[in-house]
Amino acid sequence: MNLVLDSFEFGLHTQIYYGVNKINELPTIIRKYNYKKVLICTDKGIVQSGNLKRVESLLSSAGIEFFTFTEVEPDPTIEIVQHVKNLYIENGCDALIGMGGGSSIDTAKGVSIAVVNAGDLTQYEGKDKIPNKGPEIITIPTTAGTGSEVTHATVLKDNKRHYKMGILSQHLHAKAAILDPQLLTTVPRGVAAITGMDALSHAIESYTSNQAQPITEAFGLYAIRLIGRHLRPFVARRADLNAASHMMLASTIAGAAFIWGRIAAVHAISHPLGGRLGVAHGLANSLLLPVVMRYNVSTNYEKFRDIAVALGENVEGLSLREAAERSITAVEQLIHDLEIPTTLTALGLHPSDDELDVIAKEAFESGMTSANPKDCTTADLRRMIEKIR
Ligand SMILES: [Fe+2]
Repeated sequence: MNLVLDSFEFGLHTQIYYGVNKINELPTIIRKYNYKKVLICTDKGIVQSGNLKRVESLLSSAGIEFFTFTEVEPDPTIEIVQHVKNLYIENGCDALIGMGGGSSIDTAKGVSIAVVNAGDLTQYEGKDKIPNKGPEIITIPTTAGTGSEVTHATVLKDNKRHYKMGILSQHLHAKAAILDPQLLTTVPRGVAAITGMDALSHAIESYTSNQAQPITEAFGLYAIRLIGRHLRPFVARRADLNAASHMMLASTIAGAAFIWGRIAAVHAISHPLGGRLGVAHGLANSLLLPVVMRYNVSTNYEKFRDIAVALGENVEGLSLREAAERSITAVEQLIHDLEIPTTLTALGLHPSDDELDVIAKEAFESGMTSANPKDCTTADLRRMIEKIR
């Protein structure tokens, strides 16, 4: 970015409450915003971990009314959102809590749209198409990856089209995010690994995007450094509160980076890969990240060298190009160390050429590649997909 010729905007609209056991302050935070009855969107994993019970007892002891929906599924659908909207209205709620991974938070965001905007949610796909701002949301992430606790995005699945649609709007910023690293300590190892790779994808995509600007670059690069240092120990032992704390912050900081810095080809492909083949979001990003980095590296060797250094690589004595390419091998080594599969075949998936053609076409049509530092045609995207086959 040329700071003499170019201009940019940046805003973070969510109040962040960080701290180990910060969840205990939920009743105080709800009172501060004057909510009378909250609907909690969450999933069975949060029930099983005991974290929901903890939140419900906190609210009950404080005399705060709530209604809980625990049936959020991975890749939440439009139908689930409409169902929860009805529960929200029937139960007379006036605010939402999204507690869990990206699916629970994105469901809460979808409900917030549906409560005050009539009709099929598909009409709001894309950027800034939502006319009315819905009820406020408190987000309580229990994975370190999505960034949805602070972003303006929700991703909902349209089963009719086997399609994961992105809705982006200023109305989707949470009012508050409670970042309590203690909540990460019950995450299963595999989830910790792939959600961490989602956060790394946000950080690297926003840092190298053609929409990057000084503030998002600062956020993105710092998040890459935190992930480089703390993802391995966190995945190895989720009860390591120091590692969990840094990963919690890395995830939110990477989320803040991509609100304005945007995400690009990795996410453009990973959404249809999830919609068509059911590959979990973080896993799809992990498959694609090194491939997309290799495609993009020549656009900005300095930035990719920064990534290598942030990931802990020693680049002394290397040429700029060699140092930049170290960022890719560093990410590959990280994926290897986290024992994440690197191909669709390794996941037991054997899509046809036609299916992969459709995924490439949908990736291109998503418009997300417009932030990629190197232009991508559908054929370019198709070649990237072939590399993870
Ligand atoms: Fe993501």
